[in-house]
Amino acid sequence: GVDTLMRISMSELKQHNKRDDAWSAFNGKVYNITPYLAYHPGGEKELMRAAGRDGTKLFNLTHAWVNVDYMLDACLVGFLVSDS
Ligand code: HEM
Repeated sequence: GVDTLMRISMSELKQHNKRDDAWSAFNGKVYNITPYLAYHPGGEKELMRAAGRDGTKLFNLTHAWVNVDYMLDACLVGFLVSDS
């Protein structure tokens, strides 16, 4: 539930940039994208470009019409906050 979500800084997000531990931020929300990598229609390599980063721009460049909130609801980790 919402009470278990974390506040995640950019420096924390950056740590999660490996295939088996990949987080990415979209529109201020941080998702664990690892379970979705194998299912991404654009391929694992493309999605990994957003690992450990704010992927909002890349996401909107490729498919702004895709509803990430809906698709990755179960993978929501928390909210991106500024570093200090
Ligand atoms: C295709 C979901 C992140 C690159 C797609 C499609 C979905 C999807 C549903 C099929 C869209 C369609 O055919 O209309 C997602 C989700 C993401 C994500 C849920 C976030 C976790 C990204 C990122 C990139 C990317 C960050 C780029 C770095 C692509 C590309 C395609 C694609 C290039 C087109 C594949 C093709 O038609 O050949 N993605 N995507 N995606 N995605 Fe993503």
